[in-house]
Amino acid sequence: MSDNLISKVLKNKKSSVPIWFMRQAGRHIPEYFKIRKNEKNFINFCLNEDLIIKSTTLPLKYYDLDAAIIFSDILMIPWAMDRNVKFTKNFGPSLKPMIAGETKIVRNICLISKLVPLKNSISYLREKLPKSISLIGFAGAPWTLACYMIEGRGSKDFINTRKALWSSYEWFMELIETLIVYIADKLEMQARAGADILMIFDSWSHMIPNTFFDDCAIRPTAKIVDILRSRKILVPVIGFPFKAGASIVKYSFESKVDCIALDWSVDLCWAIKYINKKVALQGNLDPASLIPSHSNHLRENVLTILETMKDRRFIFNVGHGLTPDCKIDNVKEVISIVRNYNMKV
Ligand code: CP3
Repeated sequence: MSDNLISKVLKNKKSSVPIWFMRQAGRHIPEYFKIRKNEKNFINFCLNEDLIIKSTTLPLKYYDLDAAIIFSDILMIPWAMDRNVKFTKNFGPSLKPMIAGETKIVRNICLISKLVPLKNSISYLREKLPKSISLIGFAGAPWTLACYMIEGRGSKDFINTRKALWSSYEWFMELIETLIVYIADKLEMQARAGADILMIFDSWSHMIPNTFFDDCAIRPTAKIVDILRSRKILVPVIGFPFKAGASIVKYSFESKVDCIALDWSVDLCWAIKYINKKVALQGNLDPASLIPSHSNHLRENVLTILETMKDRRFIFNVGHGLTPDCKIDNVKEVISIVRNYNMKV
């Protein structure tokens, strides 16, 4: 197994601070549009080996990064479950909504056979990329996928999803259990193909009613990690319980992930004090700080993050994905601050 900086941090070894960015392969790099022009349909784009490889490696042409995240989308699982997933320009994703208690939950798809291009791209990239660069495979967490599948689109409050949880708890849990298996299968496939790190995005975990946080976020994540370990997949797992607030503490002790990605709302002093010391931490620069052409606070904030985290196993990242309007020069500046800091300590 590769011994790059991120793997070192995640495997309990002393290391300088590695750096990568969530959504680094997306639309903030103008060249992405050239690649994207080759395939207007985003699902087909995510199924095209050549385009997956080009998009995954695009940020490495611009930046000195410690990881590449494989180009795909969390909604490829609902797509494989025939939920009629579509991406429309200026609208985002839309799916055929599930009716709580009524829509039959499909349990017998062969997910892996539908995602062969993803598998092949990972194998190819792991061969080609330098060993010093981690290749990250990922999946959406069960709750976040259920949010999109029930709501049928993005939402400010996912009210239909929360209503479904209260009205049809058994059905909801059957959906979560089904997703756990598909997610574990997808993560296993990516690790076997060559991904050295796996990440589980729970981008809507802040929509889980507090009483159900265990049922919908912690236990499902722990089950996914258990399934992976029982199948001898030993690569580190990063969990991202976005904006889950104080629930992150329990998540850190019980979800079995090796690292927690902290969102930009988390106070790092609080995190150091209360989050399980056995897990590594990743985060949490506000991606909005990378939008203005100039900010007096950017450098200072990056250094504060580094200083605060100096005694923890830590990976520098943003606290949510890079936005399309973030500036390449800002990203470069952040990387250089982190690299210089590493040389001094
Ligand atoms: O750069 C990377 O991180 C690699 C690939 C990646 C994408 N999506 C590509 C993408 C990753 C890791 C994701 C994860 C993802 N997808 C999440 C979890 C992370 C998060 O940001 O919270 C979520 C919630 C999604 C669902 C999703 N996919 C939405 C809501 C959208 C629409 C966004 C928009 O503003 O249009 C997408 C589309 C998408 N996924 C794009 C990219 C590069 C834009 C598609 C395009 O080219 O038009």
